[in-house]
Amino acid sequence: MPQKCKKVVITGVPGVGKTTVINGSMEALKELGVPYTSINFGTCMFEVACDQNLVSDRDEMRKLDQDVQRNLQKTAAQVIAKIQDNVIIDTHCTVSTPSGFLPGLPAWVLEELKPDIVVLVESNEDQILKRRLSDTTRTRDVEGYQSIKDHQNYNRYMAAAYSMLTGCTVKSIKNQDFLLENAINEMVTLLK
Ligand code: AP5
Repeated sequence: MPQKCKKVVITGVPGVGKTTVINGSMEALKELGVPYTSINFGTCMFEVACDQNLVSDRDEMRKLDQDVQRNLQKTAAQVIAKIQDNVIIDTHCTVSTPSGFLPGLPAWVLEELKPDIVVLVESNEDQILKRRLSDTTRTRDVEGYQSIKDHQNYNRYMAAAYSMLTGCTVKSIKNQDFLLENAINEMVTLLK
């Protein structure tokens, strides 16, 4: 019987380093001969949003009207659901918007993606703050230590809800300063 493709959703607050961990893990998985396609949910949404002339910068998306963001989410999920391979989906448990936290994986997105695992990439709030401040390529929201802590906590509650809805497992991986290799090793062990 052919093996089922694995769908792994990787989340983390902006600047926690999820894309850095994913890129390192993809290289290691390639060396091990374990096939994976990695896709960034935000990029997928951004491409659809650009086609519709809604935004010119990916950081503008979380300021769009809630219904518009929901439609973009659904379209991105439908595109990703078509991938017939082990897939890593780089996205958010929740998105901080002007009207509060928007679920990154509402029921209609989960129904399309059917994830096997939801990973929470986490780190110390002061390290996340420092990484955001030193990344000049992005228009990051200015947030303090407590606000980042609240967001990480809220993401944990939401991951538990996603697990209850789909039966997926939830795994936390710590990405601490100077210990990127540890995070990559843990991710590769989970994915191979
Ligand atoms: P997205 O592109 O995912 O943006 P983001 O959250 O800002 O994520 P980044 O990729 O910029 O941050 P990261 O955590 O991956 O950190 P990085 O590896 O770059 O999403 C864009 C937008 O799309 C969202 O804002 C939202 O609007 C929308 N979106 C996405 N998914 C959605 C969904 N499901 N529903 C609705 N909207 C959605 O690292 C940051 C820095 O830290 C780098 O400089 C790196 O070198 C450094 N660093 C990383 N790890 C370490 C380490 N261990 N030690 C030292 N430095 C480190």
